[in-house]
Amino acid sequence: MRLVFLGAPGVGKGTQAEKVAAQFGIAKISTGDLLREAVRAQTVLGKDAKSYMDQGKLVPDSVVIGLVRDKLSDPSCANGFVLDGFPRTVPQAEELGHVLSQHNIRLDRVINFQVSREDVVRRLSGRRSCPKCQATFHVEFAPSKKSDSCDRCGEALVQRSDDKRDAIETRLRVYEEQTAPLIAYYDSKHLLTQLDGAGAVEAVYQNLTRVLTPYK
Ligand code: AP5
Ligand code: ZN
Repeated sequence: MRLVFLGAPGVGKGTQAEKVAAQFGIAKISTGDLLREAVRAQTVLGKDAKSYMDQGKLVPDSVVIGLVRDKLSDPSCANGFVLDGFPRTVPQAEELGHVLSQHNIRLDRVINFQVSREDVVRRLSGRRSCPKCQATFHVEFAPSKKSDSCDRCGEALVQRSDDKRDAIETRLRVYEEQTAPLIAYYDSKHLLTQLDGAGAVEAVYQNLTRVLTPYK
């Protein structure tokens, strides 16, 4: 199964991608996670990316495309993949099309998660992340059993630097300007499914698995 998860920041792409990847045995490729990993490791790429990310702006296409191209060639993707947070611009989508055709494969489905602006702001403001194992929590909706530490690995949870109010505003604006056009782009290719992302994680997941059943 080869999937793209689209949607504004905070709609739950990462949460649902993790569940799909585990259930269907496919790779989860999150450009946000890959970039945060590079920032933590203080690589040249990470140092370049950090200022864009902290402000809530997109990292240049060439950087992100390079990361995804490497990942897609990895044997872990042989069984399929879910792209979480990529593509984010029309040039990224076009480049993804080229890379996939070089591998002689195509996307099965692009899922666009829909959640109100009020809900995404609430989800982002309350998110806490584990810097070690990347697990994601929410102070209200998905609290860690160990309160301020990760209940998987024990690391202290942190708030992402781009989950502060100003960066959230920028990310939502950037999404409308640069990423929302991908909805029409994939609709014109008959790949798009709209999915209601409001409601509890498990309820959204049930609807999602129903939509994905034909592509297993
Ligand atoms: P990225 O990490 O991709 O962030 P994003 O798209 O802004 O998405 P989020 O991770 O914020 O949200 P999500 O939809 O995954 O929601 P989640 O499941 O975590 O990108 C970060 C930055 O990296 C970008 O700003 C950019 O600078 C750069 N970047 C990344 N990709 C790029 C690209 N392709 N091109 C250029 N730059 C790129 O859920 C959010 C919270 O809500 C969590 O706390 C969760 O527990 C909770 N939650 C989830 N589902 C529910 C639910 N159903 N009910 C209640 N709470 C829920
Ligand atoms: Zn952890």
